Amino acid sequence: MKLKTPIVIAIDGTSASGKSTNAKLVAKALGFVYVDTGAMYRTLAWYCLQKKVNVDDEKAVAAVCKKWKTSLECVNHQVHLLVDGRYPDREIRTAETSAAVSHVAAVPKVREWMKKKQRECIQFGNLVMEGRDIGTNVFPETDFKFYLDALLTERSKRREAEGVQENLAARDQRDSQRAAAPLMVALGAKVINNSGMTSAETSKIIIEEVHKRLAECR
Ligand code: DC
Repeated sequence: MKLKTPIVIAIDGTSASGKSTNAKLVAKALGFVYVDTGAMYRTLAWYCLQKKVNVDDEKAVAAVCKKWKTSLECVNHQVHLLVDGRYPDREIRTAETSAAVSHVAAVPKVREWMKKKQRECIQFGNLVMEGRDIGTNVFPETDFKFYLDALLTERSKRREAEGVQENLAARDQRDSQRAAAPLMVALGAKVINNSGMTSAETSKIIIEEVHKRLAECR
């Protein structure tokens, strides 16, 4: 195995499977830059809602991607997608945005746009990128792929503990059954079912596997 640099650690998985927490822990431990690609899809969903664009109208949503004014910035080892010069940090986490996001994420032209932007993140250095299609579609060439999952009951409890009421089963179904880059386990990915595990335990498994694969490259 030959090491490709910058290194990309791809962490995919179901909603509330601990991707964000673990991706941040792994990025911190290794000194890599963290990229939350779900936030990028959420930003588009929020922007469509703001502009009264129907998120079920594929053409209208694709047209937004052509027009909106965006840029990438890296602050404190985290990449953000800015729209009109700002990162709508709070707005993208509302229940309304969460309900809209998997609709915009199913649009093939949106996924093309996102893939290009997400690949541009490599300009910031070694990455830990979390999402649904990073290992299968955005960086299929990486040797560092992980897939996180946990029991639905446990994932629902985690969301509730965050104060978020959400139909995770419906979102998982839309994410796994869409035609364009559906959520699935990438070839060569290490699958971790972290039901009953702490994030310290999950991130330790990921970090150890990264070190093992790095050693194989040397
Ligand atoms: O991880 P999250 O809950 O913030 O993701 C929001 C939505 O975006 C989720 O329903 C699936 C979609 N998404 C995607 O399709 N592909 C990605 N790489 C990241 C997120």
